[in-house]
Amino acid sequence: MRSVLHYLLEPTELTCRFMGRAVELAEAAQHRAAPNPTVGAVLVKENDIVAYGVTEPLGGRHAEVVCIDDARARHVDMTDTTLYVTLEPCGHHGRTPPCSDAIIEAGIPRVRYGVDDAHPAVSGEGLRALGAAGVDAKQTSHQDVIHACEALHRSFRHKILTGRPYVILKTAASLDGSMALSDGTSNWITSQASREKVHAIRANVSALVTGHGTIQTDNPRMTVRHVQSERHPQIYACLGSSRSNTKAHVFEKIPGRAETQVFITGEDGRVDLVALLGDVAKDGHHLVLIEAGPTLSRSFLNAGLVDEWWHFVAPKWLNGKRLFEAPVLAMSASSCFDDIIFNGSVGRDMLFVGPPRERC
Ligand SMILES: NC(=O)c1ccc[n+]([C@@H]2O[C@H](COP(=O)([O-])OP(=O)(O)OC[C@H]3O[C@@H](n4cnc5c(N)ncnc54)[C@H](OP(=O)(O)O)[C@@H]3O)[C@@H](O)[C@H]2O)c1
Repeated sequence: MRSVLHYLLEPTELTCRFMGRAVELAEAAQHRAAPNPTVGAVLVKENDIVAYGVTEPLGGRHAEVVCIDDARARHVDMTDTTLYVTLEPCGHHGRTPPCSDAIIEAGIPRVRYGVDDAHPAVSGEGLRALGAAGVDAKQTSHQDVIHACEALHRSFRHKILTGRPYVILKTAASLDGSMALSDGTSNWITSQASREKVHAIRANVSALVTGHGTIQTDNPRMTVRHVQSERHPQIYACLGSSRSNTKAHVFEKIPGRAETQVFITGEDGRVDLVALLGDVAKDGHHLVLIEAGPTLSRSFLNAGLVDEWWHFVAPKWLNGKRLFEAPVLAMSASSCFDDIIFNGSVGRDMLFVGPPRERC
């Protein structure tokens, strides 16, 4: 299981350079089209890429149409070209006309795509229209390309199939598992390199959940700063029984960030995290990052709501606030991850990435 964020760790190496380029284009624009998937497309003629396209923000053109318009602007004769696109071209009338119509009208004879559209109502429709018009349209046979496209569109697919966004939890701790000193201080446990990595993750998600304790103690901005981005994730704040200072940075209106949403506790004194994720999905987000202290991070883990956990470990000893306080009674219950999909060093820290063990 890999998410597209792994390309921050291991640059894409694809045997198929055309589809690889389409993936790179979409990766660079991650989530700008939410709630639609951000798709990449290139048009190839005589083994050269002659036009490019990425899905425009909601209501704008799909990647295939951007690519076709680019080819027209460059006066490319499209009658002997192949269109490479990361997701199956659509065939339905949504906010924009079907991409299959645009491909047929442009006279493109071949289409290769990365992954099927997970939406049961639209999957296959575009391919049927293309086939009926004599266009040779099929899925690429390169397995590494298919995997890269699956990773690219994983969160979109996850949301369609589960109704919830794909959840990434980021935590940073010392060697003894402390996420903060006992007085609450946690800047900075990890190194500059790890903090830059976290900002790169923020730049790739469109929503971020944080907790009352973190807002009160750290007053974080939760914006993207160490990497280039014009957009900042929308904040969902779990305020709990004691309300946070409304002048905190996360409530500031800043360009490139949608208004912060506030969640307050229900009858059991806790925010209903399933309902919160449902609202995040309804707001159009596919991918959400949890950046909170031990209490809220533990709640998400215990509820089995984390799809991918990025845990940074710094070479420090803090004897402070730990993620898990309860003693583990058997070695068989001690594993944190179901599977480790990345482990390696980031600056002087270690990073472990994987799906957490259910209800750890
Ligand atoms: N190392 C890291 O990765 C990292 C990241 C962020 C923060 N921190 C540090 O963590 C510390 C703050 O941690 P924290 O545990 O106190 O705060 P937190 O996890 O950020 O927020 C927890 C609070 O959120 C509220 N809440 C509402 N619904 C909840 C639910 N379903 N489950 C859990 N909490 C819910 C509760 O407020 P009420 O108690 O008012 O009901 C709870 O106390 C600070 O020292 C900060 O510096 C470390």
